[in-house]
Amino acid sequence: MVIGTSYFSDFLNSVLEASKVIYEAVSEDLLIHIYSHLDADGIAAGGIIGKALQRLDARFRIRITQWVDDKLIDEIIREKPPIVIFTDLGTDYASLLSKKVSDIKIIVLDHHQIGCTPQSFLCVNPHIYGIDGAKDISGSGVAYFVAKALDISNVDLAPIAVVGALGDLQDKYDQRMLGGLNQKIVEDAINAGLLTVEKDLIFFGRETRPIHKALAATTSPFIPGISGAEDKVLDLLASLGIPLKHDDKWRALRDLTEDEKKRLCSALADYLLSKGLHCEISNLIGHVYTLTREEPWTPLRDGREFSVLLNATGRMNKSGVGVAICMGDRGKALEEASKILEDYRKTINKYLDWVTEKPGRIQELEYIYVVYGGTYIDDKIIGAISSILSSNLPNPEKPLIACSDVKNEGIVKVSARTTDIMVNRGLNLGDIMQVAAEKCKGKGGGHNIAAGAQIPKEKIEEFINLVNELVRRKLAGEEIGG
Ligand code: C5P
Ligand code: C5P
Ligand code: ZN
Repeated sequence: MVIGTSYFSDFLNSVLEASKVIYEAVSEDLLIHIYSHLDADGIAAGGIIGKALQRLDARFRIRITQWVDDKLIDEIIREKPPIVIFTDLGTDYASLLSKKVSDIKIIVLDHHQIGCTPQSFLCVNPHIYGIDGAKDISGSGVAYFVAKALDISNVDLAPIAVVGALGDLQDKYDQRMLGGLNQKIVEDAINAGLLTVEKDLIFFGRETRPIHKALAATTSPFIPGISGAEDKVLDLLASLGIPLKHDDKWRALRDLTEDEKKRLCSALADYLLSKGLHCEISNLIGHVYTLTREEPWTPLRDGREFSVLLNATGRMNKSGVGVAICMGDRGKALEEASKILEDYRKTINKYLDWVTEKPGRIQELEYIYVVYGGTYIDDKIIGAISSILSSNLPNPEKPLIACSDVKNEGIVKVSARTTDIMVNRGLNLGDIMQVAAEKCKGKGGGHNIAAGAQIPKEKIEEFINLVNELVRRKLAGEEIGG
């Protein structure tokens, strides 16, 4: 979508209003409580607001949470902070909170779909201004605009918002480019000399992995026979005369010469063509976002790797490390994050093996796929598993509904994902999750392409059947209710 100037200026007005309220709270030396979402975008958003407040010498506290629920709201009411900022989550519950108490100032900086514009608290959300929060700006992007309005020196946080948008998979424009308001953030980061954007081979791990490992480990683009097969990649590189090492040191993708990259790219294109997969060829090249001030060979230098690292800290219960990195900590925090990342990768692989080890673990219903992780898959990680699995399912027209039990809570966490094809056909998982969850005494919402829910365990079967039915109805052009 091309963002009209008036939409943008209306959005910026609400940004300005939020920044004024925050500034006043800081001037009055109020303790500010920040609640942010557990994924890469949420951690980046919390880190951006945290850094902006730190620079103002403000008193603040950041909590990262997977969701807001009645329990958390009750806790906030008990603690009674003078001001609460929710980032990358919380619109529904902020409404509830504002109804229950009148003396807590509430600000929500979010990009999730909302039913109507909240009147009882300050809500900065692109959807209010007709801007698509699923691909044109992320939660950390909204936080960035507010930080920049607080003080122009916060422009140096633009790369963190780019990382957040990449973490939310908002690179939906041509050749995996960030567009919409994200493009403005990218420009800020480039102008500050902190980011470069190039078109290049898009394999994951371009900064940190030996070439053959990067090629073998990437699943998007997925190259049958190459993805997952290190030995085949080694043969391919040898046949192209591309050395793996330079002076005994592994070479990463970024170390290849232009000529080597061209040769590799055209060999992969020929290979894909020979398999009848011409569509995948355009996916070999994409926009690469490099954080130029980060050290080479660290997972912070490539924007996509950085986002995976943040995700890992959140999902492995170490979100404080991720927030610290977004606020500028390196050294020890980075060392710790690298270890967390390693554990996270192992855990993800273990779960993916579990899902694929028995055919029945991905169930195919008429309109959806279902994966039920029970107590085996950690509910904090089911979202990542859902994202990975959904891009490799045989039928891209069927959304994936992945679930796992939240231990000792009697609820099931649901993570739903679909594809651009279905979004373009009008499917909106955020709406479906919300409607189905409400009918099953749960809570749901999110974006058109990626959404989630929390459902009482005894209702999960009913919920799944309802989602299957709602997808059918939506595709048949019927109302889904609400
Ligand atoms: O709450 P938030 O908007 O930050 O989360 C969006 C989530 O959806 C992210 O975890 C992101 O990875 C996921 N996503 C996805 N596929 C997409 C878009 C987003 O899995 N196409
Ligand atoms: O948790 P998961 O990654 O599956 O969430 C996908 C998207 O749905 C995220 O943007 C998340 O914030 C959103 N979501 C929501 N309401 C819920 C559960 C998830 O808005 N109850
Ligand atoms: Zn987000």
